[in-house]
Amino acid sequence: MGRVIAVANQKGGVGKTTTAINLASSFAAAEVNTLLVDCDPQSNATSGLGLAKDPDRINTYHVLMGAAGVEEAVRPTSMEQLWIIPSHKNLIGANLELVDAERREFRLRDALQPLRDRFQFIVLDCPPALDLLTLNALVAADAVLIPMQAEYFALEGITELLDTVERIRSSLNPELALEGVVLTMLDERTNLAQQVMAELKRFFGEKLCATTIPRNIRLAEAPSHGKPALVYDVRSRGAESYIRLAKEIIAHHLPVQEAPTEEASGAQEVAVAQTAEQEQVSEPAPEMDKSA
Ligand SMILES: Nc1ncnc2c1ncn2[C@@H]1O[C@H](COP(=O)(O)OP(=O)(O)O)[C@@H](O)[C@H]1O
Ligand SMILES: [Mg+2]
Repeated sequence: MGRVIAVANQKGGVGKTTTAINLASSFAAAEVNTLLVDCDPQSNATSGLGLAKDPDRINTYHVLMGAAGVEEAVRPTSMEQLWIIPSHKNLIGANLELVDAERREFRLRDALQPLRDRFQFIVLDCPPALDLLTLNALVAADAVLIPMQAEYFALEGITELLDTVERIRSSLNPELALEGVVLTMLDERTNLAQQVMAELKRFFGEKLCATTIPRNIRLAEAPSHGKPALVYDVRSRGAESYIRLAKEIIAHHLPVQEAPTEEASGAQEVAVAQTAEQEQVSEPAPEMDKSA
């Protein structure tokens, strides 16, 4: 079973989409089949991976509304092991249209179910709001990854998100874990960054990702070329740091265990599934066009 990671923070401009694109592409570069689901009507992850605006293309909106099968929504990207379910600005309507729908918080979870064997990682890029779209992502996810900037009152800014995660755990998705908190756009040399990092370390402990993402112009430029940073400039500090973050997360899920525990056997399953999937690389999309 693949791991579903929601990249969430209700604040805009903290690096969610940059993290979603570059983490997903780094997973793919590590040769694990990865799906990025753009859950944001702003569609920045979609355009950032080079997909042109197309209102007729099946997207996350259709998937949530049950108007299309999820298989039809999956598109190839320029990377062999990376696929995307694109978004479109019409997705904003789902927030209202789903209000009275049955199992409205479970729409994405139910839809992604048939894909979980096909991808080792499914990364969800959330909108900058704690709306029904983010709620669907958090209910569909095994874990939430929170990108944050190192600034004063950083903790206050995410209390609401942590409360939401807690609420979802106690009701809609008891299994929801905290994948980690990742510091983005970091300028490590400043005292402020050092102080905030120390504070976050005290608060989150192990959950603060060891990898931090520096402020790096290549990360900001890459989306305008429709490429993940590691395709645009693999030697940039930005690309390298996301590759490291992906390795850190992969390592958490393929841990070296001293004794055979439940978790260890879970990890073996992942490793086996991985080999099995790699044998059928021609799947999943027959209409796959690598030049897209
Ligand atoms: N590490 C970084 N270095 C430089 N620019 C960045 C970095 N991370 C994000 N950006 C830029 O900051 C802006 C906001 O990032 P984005 O990922 O879109 O945030 P969000 O999805 O949370 O709104 C974008 O213009 C993006 O290119
Ligand atoms: Mg975004």
